[in-house]
This record gives sequence, structure tokens and C-alpha cells, in this order.
Amino acid sequence: MGNITFTMIKPTAMNKGFAGKILEKITDGGFRIQAMKMLRMSKADAEKFYEVHKERPFYGELTEFMSSGPIVAAVLEKENAVEDYRKLIGATNPKDADEGTIRKLYATDIQANAVHGSDSDENALIEASFFFSKKEQFDKDGNLI
Ligand code: CMP
Repeated sequence: MGNITFTMIKPTAMNKGFAGKILEKITDGGFRIQAMKMLRMSKADAEKFYEVHKERPFYGELTEFMSSGPIVAAVLEKENAVEDYRKLIGATNPKDADEGTIRKLYATDIQANAVHGSDSDENALIEASFFFSKKEQFDKDGNLI
């Protein structure tokens, strides 16, 4: 049971001004922000980040979209973080997401689904280190991890 997950607030949700509301849902859900930044990925960054989906038909569109504007990237800490965060964000396709979940409230469609969330403890660590160095991650006392 890992204690971190990685998230991104995707370009459409940023563009619609939902970042503050999404971060509020995250902290109200009991997650502590261990690291956070706003940036725009290059197409190459997005291709590398989503490399596991390279063979999927939506890979080109997804990486184009994820590099189309700014995102917020963050590492979130909580007991059972990966599973609990997936519950908080809801199903990948917002049409299937439960009421009250972040995707139900703030997603546009399956691609612009408001947020990304890691699917395993192993991927959470890989994704966190894709965006953040050890000098950008803090424990609950404000010390570097
Ligand atoms: P995310 O959690 O960022 O991980 C992979 C992303 O691929 C997923 O959210 C969706 O935005 C996107 N995705 C998954 N399935 C499809 C699909 N069938 N069509 C378009 N995009 C998809």
C-alpha cells in the first residue's frame, strides 16, 4: 500500500479555470501536496510520459492535447494514495464517473477528462520522478524528501 500518487490537471480543465476547485477537492479528500508546479509539456515530453499507450489509436491525439497548453503536475501523499485518488477522480470516461467525482464535475470528455491519476504504486514513483527532482518534494514538516 503506497503513500503517493501523481496527478496532472489537464489543459482543458486549466483553461476553464477549474484548477483551484480541483485542488480544493484534492486537499478536502485528505491528500497532502508533496510537490506541485504549472508547466507546458512539449510534444516529446507528452509522448514519453504516455509511452505505455504508444500502440493505442488515441496516442497521437492524446499527446497533442496534453502538450496544447499549461498543466498543473503534483505529487499527492495519503495512505493508500493510488486507490483512494482513483476513487476521488472517478472513471476515465466522465460519462461513467460517479456523482461528485472530479471527472464528473470538471471533465469535458474521455480525452479532456480533467485530471490524470497514476494506476499503480510503481507508476506513481516513475511519474513523480518524471516531473520532480528530490529538491522539489517536501514532507509534512516542510523538509525535503
Ligand atoms: P489518463 O489518466 O491521463 O491516462 C491515459 C489517458 O488516455 C486517459 O486519461 C484518457 O484521457 C486517454 N484515453 C483513454 N482511453 C481513451 C480513448 N478511448 N479515447 C481517447 N482518449 C482515451
